[in-house]
Order: sequence, then C-alpha cells, then structure tokens
Amino acid sequence: MLKDYEIDKPILETDRLIIRVLNENDVADLKEWLGRDEIYTYWGRKASKGEKNPELMFIDPRPWVKRKPSLDLDWGIVLKETNKVVGMIAVFDIQNARMGDIAYRINPEYWSMGITTEALKEVLRFVFENTEIDRLNGRVDVRNAASNKVMEKCGFIKEGTVRQGKMVSVYCDYNIYGMLREDYMSMQGVNS
Ligand SMILES: CC(C)(COP(=O)(O)OP(=O)(O)OC[C@H]1O[C@@H](n2cnc3c(N)ncnc32)[C@H](O)[C@@H]1OP(=O)(O)O)[C@@H](O)C(=O)NCCC(=O)NCCS
Repeated sequence: MLKDYEIDKPILETDRLIIRVLNENDVADLKEWLGRDEIYTYWGRKASKGEKNPELMFIDPRPWVKRKPSLDLDWGIVLKETNKVVGMIAVFDIQNARMGDIAYRINPEYWSMGITTEALKEVLRFVFENTEIDRLNGRVDVRNAASNKVMEKCGFIKEGTVRQGKMVSVYCDYNIYGMLREDYMSMQGVNS
C-alpha cells in the first residue's frame, strides 16, 4: 500500500542501479550536473537557484513547521559501479492513491546509456506490484526525442497529443502517455 511508504521510501535495485532517496551526502554528485541548463530545455526554463545549489535542497527553511507526510515517491538514481548519483526519478502528483505522474532527469554525461529506461522499468514494477496506483501518466514535449523513446521502451501507450498545452513552465505540443496496471500485467505475461 502507498501509505506504507509515506515516510520511509523504498530502495529499489536493478543490475546497474540503486534507486533511493537523496540526502546531504549526495550534494557533491548533484552539483556536477543538476544545474546544467540543457536538462531543462523542454521544461521551458533554465536551471533554478536550488538546482544550481543542491545543498539548498537539504536545508529546511521552516524547521518548526510539521511537514505533512507525502505519498509522492522521489528518488535519486545511483550508478552502482561508481556509487555516483547520476539521475532523479519521481512519481508525483498522486491523486487518491490511484493515479500519478512520472518525471525523470539524468546527468547529461550519462545520456543514451539506457539508465532512465532501466530505472523506470523498476519503478513500474514497484508501483504496480506494491501499491494501489492504477495509472501512471507521462507528459513529454513532442520534440524531446529521448524522453519519448524512454516512454515507448518502457511500454507506455501514447494516448494523444495536446496542442500548445502548458507543461511545467512552457506552452508546447506534448504527448500524453499512460500505463495502466492491466497494461503492466499483460506485459509481464508476454515477457514471461
Ligand atoms: C529524457 C532523459 C531522462 C533520457 O535519459 P536517458 O538515460 O538518456 O534515456 P535512455 O538511454 O534510457 O533512453 C533514451 C533513448 O533515446 C535515444 N535518443 C537520445 N537522444 C535522441 C535523439 N536526439 N533522437 C532520437 N533518439 C534519441 C537514445 O539513443 C535511447 O534510445 P536507445 O536505447 O534505443 O538507443 C534525458 O535525456 C534527460 O535527462 N533529459 C532532460 C530532462 C528531461 O527531458 N526529462 C524528461 C521530461 S518529460
């Protein structure tokens, strides 16, 4: 159940990767890439102050405020070989524990090595085998070839294209992808 992971988020593992919550010790790795503007081309903005200074991510500006536990799942992607944080992946905007959105970003030095595909497939396994989420959404700028490819390689169904809709901070044409629990289950049937 999603509620089981409200406070302690799960640690996932694949052949090459550990997928786990980030902490202060990851700042040096994040500093190498999180502030690079090319990551945000299709988010219609440049890197933010927090992304350029990832140490800020771990400073609580209002420690006296009791934080609400969150159902969102927000992980770093660690390459086992070097123990470096090379990416981030999240299931966010979870509604009624039933539907959520997927987001990911990778250090440009590690693009096109299949890292996001490997991480996302494991996240899908976790979500559909361990939580009650029934549907995951992916929204991808039509020009973002790498991300559209990730969606397809992971088995998301392209359900349509929104013309000049708002995505993050930009209006653009974007593809809507969806994966239902039943899509995931039937993929397991086909592959097993
Ligand atoms: C999108 C992103 C996360 C993909 O990460 P990645 O780890 O490189 O993804 P993968 O290697 O698993 O898959 C990318 C695929 O796209 C392909 N690809 C990359 N650039 C491409 C291009 N310009 N044209 C066509 N295909 C391209 C790769 O070759 C690979 O396919 P292959 O495995 O068949 O060779 C990464 O590019 C990124 O961080 N982009 C900036 C943030 C972003 O756009 N996030 C998604 C927002 S919706």
